[in-house]
Amino acid sequence: MKTIIYYFTGTGNSLAAAKKIAGALGDCDIVPVASFADTPGPVASGANRVGLVCPVYFSGLPAMAASFAERLDLTAADYVFSVVTHGGGGGAAALRQLDGILREKAGKGLDAGFAVSMPGNYILMYASPAGEKRDQLLDAADTELDRIAGRIGQAERVNLPNSPVARIVRALMYPRFLSHVHENDRKFTVSEACTSCGTCAAVCPAGNIDIVGGRPVWNHRCELCCGCIHLCPAEAIQAGSRTEKRQRYRHPDLEIEDMENQREQRTPERAGAP
Ligand SMILES: Cc1cc2nc3c(=O)[nH]c(=O)nc-3n(C[C@H](O)[C@H](O)[C@H](O)COP(=O)(O)O)c2cc1C
Repeated sequence: MKTIIYYFTGTGNSLAAAKKIAGALGDCDIVPVASFADTPGPVASGANRVGLVCPVYFSGLPAMAASFAERLDLTAADYVFSVVTHGGGGGAAALRQLDGILREKAGKGLDAGFAVSMPGNYILMYASPAGEKRDQLLDAADTELDRIAGRIGQAERVNLPNSPVARIVRALMYPRFLSHVHENDRKFTVSEACTSCGTCAAVCPAGNIDIVGGRPVWNHRCELCCGCIHLCPAEAIQAGSRTEKRQRYRHPDLEIEDMENQREQRTPERAGAP
């Protein structure tokens, strides 16, 4: 059975999760959601099994993932699943948001949805877990992802988790997040530590950063993935003084290059093919 997994990622948790599931399933392509951002219209994969893996933002979907879901043509899909990665909560509400979008736009909802706890990366609010705590979280996530991959492999129907608390949090916070998400980059600054390497522009899934005179310039199409802040090799990007002291995070199984060029249209990366 052919599978395609679409992913959105800032710091690699969701990409690492997508890769792990793809490796376990075999005959699975992994494609970044951002690679469709510059081409309008429906997205038809032709795969029997279709998945979306992305982070939870304010108990909902990243704006780009939500817009992408609206464009998914699931005519050929027999089985549709999602895995959302989060730093502590809100997965149930994000999955239900996705299910609602798919039902309305594609006429077919999620057959299975899973929320996996991974290190939180919202550096504007808190420091990501580090050291042993980070490793424990990632070990637990790996175990959970193995289990999830097995269930997806069996095309198991899995009821979506339900959380009234997450629903309330989402109702309170998500609309506000969406209303000004693209403007969040107005808080971003770059210090003298910048080496003009261009990593920030390369990893931005929103294609929101130009390098002008050797320095990043943000163009107010930000998704708030925080990739530019976390992945800058010189730690030169800040969002106010609070981020100065906070340790940067990247999923340890991935290199910075794995997050680069997500917007490029591409031949899908094949995982597990013979
Ligand atoms: C803007 C923003 C909002 C977030 N909101 C939530 C949230 O509501 N609940 C939660 O548990 N984690 C939240 N997180 C943490 C991420 O969901 C989590 O770290 C995720 O695994 C990151 O995935 P990535 O590495 O693929 O970008 C948020 C992160 C960001 C950047």
